[in-house]
Amino acid sequence: MAASKCVVITDDEQGYDLDLFCIPKHYSNDLERVYIPHGLIMDRTERLARDIMKGMGNHHIVALCVLKGGYKFFADLLDYIKALNRNSDQSIPMTVDFIRLKSYCNDQSTGEIKVIGGDNLSTLTGKDIIDTGKTMQTLLSMLQDYKPNMVKVVSLLVKRTPRSVGYRPDFVGFEVPDKFVVGYALDYNEYFRDLNHICVISEKGREKYKA
Ligand code: HPA
Ligand code: MG
Repeated sequence: MAASKCVVITDDEQGYDLDLFCIPKHYSNDLERVYIPHGLIMDRTERLARDIMKGMGNHHIVALCVLKGGYKFFADLLDYIKALNRNSDQSIPMTVDFIRLKSYCNDQSTGEIKVIGGDNLSTLTGKDIIDTGKTMQTLLSMLQDYKPNMVKVVSLLVKRTPRSVGYRPDFVGFEVPDKFVVGYALDYNEYFRDLNHICVISEKGREKYKA
């Protein structure tokens, strides 16, 4: 299968000065740069919704959100899919489910993946970020127990990292350098989920919110 096309953010991307955007005051010293502004995330997500729907035929979709980091992307992606369903001659019935995976402490993967929830697992899996791909591979093998007709994975971000196991999702928003990013529900020890833009954390922020 051809690699999923996406917006590629190169290693030399500097992002934007924090002062050019609206940032919660409580994070003003904890971030380095705005990396992907919220508007760009939304515009890319709108197009992902169209691409996903094109490939779905008439299959009923169970949209599975991988919490907590995927909740913003999932909600916004579903809003765009719902808009397409309202405004086209064809529409696809959809139900939702949620699963929680936890594998990170500070900015490092613990290697151990905890899974909580999910009672009706099958088709479209929405994730925030694919770093090494190990978590996603584990989830996919679990999903096979439910004998789904088809599983499609959509991830807002995929990291270019030498630690990757080579896994590539079906739909990708942005390919990003090997940097720890936060915001738009992505966290550092549970902080920064309440930030609209995807940002790079500062050394100060890393220390302040260290576990
Ligand atoms: N940010 C937040 N959570 C993550 C990241 C990241 O860059 N990589 C894997 N989990
Ligand atoms: Mg996390």
